[in-house]
Amino acid sequence: MAILVTGGAGFIGSHTVVELQQAGEDVVILDNLSNADERVLGRLKAITGKDALFYKGDIRDRKILAEIFEKEKITSVIHFAGLKAVGESVEKPWEYYDNNITGTLTLIDEMRRHGVKNIIFSSSSTVYGDPDAVPVTEESPKKACTNPYGWTKSMLEQILSDVQKADPEWNVVLLRYFNPIGAHKSGTIGENPNGIPNNLMPYITQVAVGKLKELNVFGNDYDTPDGTGVRDYIHVVDLAKGHVCALKKLAPGSGLSVYNLGTGTGYSVLDIVKNFEEATGVKIPYVIKPRRADDIACNYASPARAEKELGWKAENGIREMCEDSWRWQKNNPNGYAD
Ligand code: NAD
Ligand code: WQD
Repeated sequence: MAILVTGGAGFIGSHTVVELQQAGEDVVILDNLSNADERVLGRLKAITGKDALFYKGDIRDRKILAEIFEKEKITSVIHFAGLKAVGESVEKPWEYYDNNITGTLTLIDEMRRHGVKNIIFSSSSTVYGDPDAVPVTEESPKKACTNPYGWTKSMLEQILSDVQKADPEWNVVLLRYFNPIGAHKSGTIGENPNGIPNNLMPYITQVAVGKLKELNVFGNDYDTPDGTGVRDYIHVVDLAKGHVCALKKLAPGSGLSVYNLGTGTGYSVLDIVKNFEEATGVKIPYVIKPRRADDIACNYASPARAEKELGWKAENGIREMCEDSWRWQKNNPNGYAD
């Protein structure tokens, strides 16, 4: 009996594979390596001492999906595979809708053909758009997304909810992640963006390691305590553990469940710079730049439902997030490349 982890070679997927294996689960990974490096697999084995079965392939490929469901005893799917760069999704909407939506439709069709009807889906705080009030709960309204990436998450939540409603044999967990940062304590796996990072923490660590000159802070005139954007940063290992806890919601009859995975605390961009400097002793030069298009001022989660129903709570604070992001970047300035 095994869990299929799509996108399991990626940032959150690889950390989740570690937690699953350490919890005693057998894991099969399907990843097309469009945003991952196969060398992560050796690092995973070094951490857990276990092999994860790896299939290099695409979630849009029915043949490889059928092969996996026929050969492996898959009980549940944790579905991370997808494209995730917000700006790129505006440039290439078709590619994002095809990869994320066609991919997920193909995956769930092959799942039901093979009688596997348990799925945990990687959704995002982006489905809340620009929230009217924080912290957001799972009952807060979903709002218009500002980019095709966000729409894929919002639409896929709807699609999975409708599939579950039509066939109650399905158990579906939608996990809305806030802003994952940090890395495994070993410093051997972590986030490995292609090109110049879009997200705040990988940008900061690349400034710290000397690959980038200075941080651009996008706006200091928001209605927040210091004027810079506020987000709910969550350690990726805590996030990964949330998936292990969510497996219990795939028991027969569980139906549809939705959880925020965040810490409940918001930090501004300048808070992150200050905490990073204190945790690592490395100075981060920065310049204030205009606001980034479509950015929101503030979003953070109420994680109360996940705590109550899953018994899950983030354990790492901002200091550990900064220390662990830095350990990974410092030890692997070129990601998995050497
Ligand atoms: P990632 O890019 O590191 O991981 C995604 C993995 O999926 C990659 O290894 C990639 O090679 C693989 N992949 C992409 N398309 C595929 C396809 N068609 N077939 C097979 N494999 C494919 O990203 P991540 O940060 O680990 O994110 C994982 C999931 O969580 C994504 O669905 C993402 O949208 C979602 N999410 C991420 C964040 C974040 O800030 N990192 C926040 C909210 C939600
Ligand atoms: C955080 C804060 C920026 C970079 C994005 C996606 C969202 C989700 C997570 C997947 C903001 C500021 C950033 C920089 C900066 N992904 N910033 N300089 O915007 O919350 O969300 O990633 O679902 O969908 O939109 O995260 O890390 O990009 O930005 O000042 O170089 O840091 O303006 O206030 P965000 P982020």
